[in-house]
Amino acid sequence: MDKIEIHIKNIKKSYDIEFCKDFEEVKKKLKEEINNRNCLFITDDNVFRKTKFFNIFSNKKTLVLKNGEINKNFESINKILKKGFEEKLDRESLMIAIGGGVVGDMVGFASSIYMRGINFIQIPTTLLSMVDSSVGGKTGIDNEYGKNLIGTFHQPKKVLCCKEFLSTLKFIEIKNGLSEMIKHGIISKNKHLSNINNLANELKKEFKESHNSVNLINKIFNIVPESIKIKKEIIEKDETEKNIRKFLNLGHTYGHAIEILSNFKTPHGIAVAKGILCSLNESKKQKILSNNDLINEYKVLLDKLNIDYSNIFDIDSIKNAMTHDKKNTSGIINLVLVKNKGEIIMGNFTKEIGNE
Ligand code: GLY
Repeated sequence: MDKIEIHIKNIKKSYDIEFCKDFEEVKKKLKEEINNRNCLFITDDNVFRKTKFFNIFSNKKTLVLKNGEINKNFESINKILKKGFEEKLDRESLMIAIGGGVVGDMVGFASSIYMRGINFIQIPTTLLSMVDSSVGGKTGIDNEYGKNLIGTFHQPKKVLCCKEFLSTLKFIEIKNGLSEMIKHGIISKNKHLSNINNLANELKKEFKESHNSVNLINKIFNIVPESIKIKKEIIEKDETEKNIRKFLNLGHTYGHAIEILSNFKTPHGIAVAKGILCSLNESKKQKILSNNDLINEYKVLLDKLNIDYSNIFDIDSIKNAMTHDKKNTSGIINLVLVKNKGEIIMGNFTKEIGNE
């Protein structure tokens, strides 16, 4: 698989997600895309320090931001915009995000407001950002009221997914990404979930020992396109989350609450994995899911992948933490519920509260 084409019809925009085996291939593709235009590379100190990517691009203008969700704020956006003006970026120029979801979301947002919008390229460096945040044009920052509450929809000009980044990741980051891939597997009728299950069987030892082997990286990178294609089908039909894009939030309302209650010590992907189990259990409780088969299948898969789905928070604290979620409407906590694998519906707690 070399590339996946994304077609956003309402804004008549298409772009490619291209897959590269190493940094040299990224360099070649970037050179063609940049085509002598002025550009600014934006990354964080973690990626800058840990990967050899910037050895290849040492002569480029680069802004290095502080890493972490805590820095996903207006201060960082100001730094990006200021650097853009200092480096004389104009409306033909490019911003290039090299990082995980935090960097990608911020560069997407900054580029959407710089001179009323310029193009940007996503180079995701984590598995999570390859399969999720780099695709679909959601951009934004956090504030004291919650995550991603300020932002825009701004599609990238190109996404370059490079396998070499995966070998720089801590094992927990692999599991973070796999949780979102499993989410794609549950919302789709295709074979993605069973392919992840096959991968878990083949790589039992690696997952047991949290060992980021070459074999593991190769096998996971091979199914990244499959995961992205599930998201592609959805965002092409509903760019701005008016209807089916909401299904991609499966486990996220619970997940965000778990992240908040754990003071962000539970990483996003793991919180989503726990959140998906809460959604499945709620679906069963509301008799939307008719039996426990999918719940059991899900738990068995997570056990094989060594992903912890236990939850120490009680449902009342979770519901309380959910009240500020931006996906709520008219004070109702909206939930993504599961009827079956590949059959997703929107619901809430109203029925349950009415019964209390
Ligand atoms: N992360 C969910 C979405 O992009 O809609």
